[in-house]
Amino acid sequence: MPVHEIRHPLIRHKLGLMRQATLSTKSFRELAQEIAALLTYEAAKDLPLEPAMVDGWAGPTQVERLAGKKITVVPILRAGIGMLDGVLSLIPGARVSVVGIARDEQTLQAQTYLERLVGELDQRQALIVDPMLATGGSMVATIDLLKQAGCKEIRALVLVAAPEGIARVTAAHPDVAIYTASVDDGLNEDGYIMPGLGDAGDRVFGTK
Ligand code: URA
Repeated sequence: MPVHEIRHPLIRHKLGLMRQATLSTKSFRELAQEIAALLTYEAAKDLPLEPAMVDGWAGPTQVERLAGKKITVVPILRAGIGMLDGVLSLIPGARVSVVGIARDEQTLQAQTYLERLVGELDQRQALIVDPMLATGGSMVATIDLLKQAGCKEIRALVLVAAPEGIARVTAAHPDVAIYTASVDDGLNEDGYIMPGLGDAGDRVFGTK
């Protein structure tokens, strides 16, 4: 599945603002949600529609509506919360499945510590949100558990992606499309994306 780097001028501009180290928590938060909404718009371009009839002002009118079960948005804790409202601003009826993943310091493997998935995942499209696709460990683990729960149609929305993370996700799950505002240069020795945004969780929650 392809990686979609959405090089829209509004996204480029907003991401440029987010890269400023001195940006306030409030502005960083707002911009993360705005870019999340714009990525959602792109990722939703081929959602299936079905015909429906409504009582229009001049009588019965044929319209279209989204077909099937409601989408589930899947924020990966904690930074994924920083994109959730942006997705919901365009898909307000979406159901939310929350996943918490942390790295086991002994094994260095991604460990799931929280999993609150909505039902009927076999009939829903999932939009995973996490601002930074760095090594790809959390994203692969999240896709693994969604697939184990029966989900067949999964997309990932990330603000910034490292080539290393993209390679890992596409190797493990070639059917999952990634939508990102930028494919950056790569990871530094501490696992941060360069030039990246720094620690997105800290910047969203104001913890640094
Ligand atoms: N997580 C972050 O918040 N930032 C990075 O650059 C990499 C992982």
